[in-house]
Amino acid sequence: PSANIGVVGLAVMGSNLARNLASREGNTVAVYNRTTAKTDALLEAHPEAGFVHTATVQEFADSLQKPRTAIIMVKAGRPTDAVIDELCEVFEAGDVIVDGGNSLFTDTIRREKAVRETGINFVGCGISGGEEGALKGPSLMPGGSVEGYKTLGPILSTIAAVAEGEPCVTHVGTDGAGHFVKMVHNGIEYADMQLIGEAYDLIRQGTGASPAQIADIFGKWNDGELNSYLIEITAEVLRQTDAETGKALVDVIVDQAGAKGTGAWTVQTALDLGIPVSGIAEAVFARSLSSKPKQRAVTGDLPGPSASAVDDAEAFIEDVRLALFASKIVAYSQGFDLIVQGAEEYDWDIKKGDIAAIWRGGCIIRAQFLNRITDAYADEPDLVALLSAPYFREALTAAQDGWRRVVVAAAQSGIPAPAFSSSLAYYDGLRAERLPAALVQGQRDFFGAHTYKRTDKEGTFHTLWSGDRSEVTAEDTH
Ligand code: 6PG
Repeated sequence: PSANIGVVGLAVMGSNLARNLASREGNTVAVYNRTTAKTDALLEAHPEAGFVHTATVQEFADSLQKPRTAIIMVKAGRPTDAVIDELCEVFEAGDVIVDGGNSLFTDTIRREKAVRETGINFVGCGISGGEEGALKGPSLMPGGSVEGYKTLGPILSTIAAVAEGEPCVTHVGTDGAGHFVKMVHNGIEYADMQLIGEAYDLIRQGTGASPAQIADIFGKWNDGELNSYLIEITAEVLRQTDAETGKALVDVIVDQAGAKGTGAWTVQTALDLGIPVSGIAEAVFARSLSSKPKQRAVTGDLPGPSASAVDDAEAFIEDVRLALFASKIVAYSQGFDLIVQGAEEYDWDIKKGDIAAIWRGGCIIRAQFLNRITDAYADEPDLVALLSAPYFREALTAAQDGWRRVVVAAAQSGIPAPAFSSSLAYYDGLRAERLPAALVQGQRDFFGAHTYKRTDKEGTFHTLWSGDRSEVTAEDTH
């Protein structure tokens, strides 16, 4: 056997990852695809990679040095299960099967358990960075047994992106931990994209700036604390002119956002775990709303203010920048809360600081301020809320006035800014001294005898709402 690593599934992500692996010193990569024509094509297009061509799973297994390590890069769901089953037939105890797809973490938990029975190690590895990341250096989020990571870890370290001199890969935790963290990454990705979209929309409608002018604004923002991959590509998308019509490309693209489901998983999981990821949820729902042409067609004439230009464009743009930064902090904070709760629920030892560190390079949500998150967790590993860390506290203090003005302006001009507003409400919710949740508890007690606690003494209480309205301790209600 001549290969030290194999890749199964040679669509774009798989091919690019295989090429990345092959380009690193010491690696010989075996490749396998169900349709051999794809394997042939890859070898023909990239003779420099020195791939080991295999036409059957058996050949693939035979070409790998032991313990064998194979990364599966096929569609999440059934196709992944099918490949795992095939590999389990030809692999043996001690080998390592890695699922590099966007798998649902509960599937990964199930698969890891099943594969472990055979003695084979199973690793669910989140991979972020899109096609280019796969080729040049992604952010990698592997989860699985420590044993399986022993042979895999060093290989992954060679292909991962590098940030601040460190490879963007860490053993996230056991079984589904890696895919869980990748799911949250995608939730944050949705939020970040939606927030940027709202910023663009507000500036466009509020100041009348053209997409190309807004591209320049984003370009400038990218030099400051908002510096990030998504801001950078936003400028590029906005600057793009459509060759056919001469218009800005963004004006030619149908305004209905697609979604493959990872954002929805994040929110579904957050609902199950009781974590308010409201900014992320708004982002998912904003995509759903955009894709409802029938509803939009019959509601387009509902009344609203006509968007009027703001008085001071420059000041407004700065407020939007502040609102974007503050809301972005909220999105990451909510994402980290979900990771903490997931780790508790599924018994994963996830180091938040390490997650922030491996998101600094390679992935879609890579951003300058992840260094700040890494620092915050380094200073205080058990930090309860990112918002309370000194750097973020200061940033929010500086941003909140502008943030509020933007949300007010959006509401007054009838420009939808669900993620900006929701993030602000979350911020105000957390900082509120008293919440109307007290009234909700009263209501629940009224109609369902659900009981409440008192601020002034221990115990659980119920008011006899349909009786004399005196208060009894909860035990008395049964
Ligand atoms: C990444 C991306 C990538 C992909 C997602 C989201 O980290 O490289 O998250 O995995 O873009 O599948 O896609 P949707 O927007 O279609 O849900």
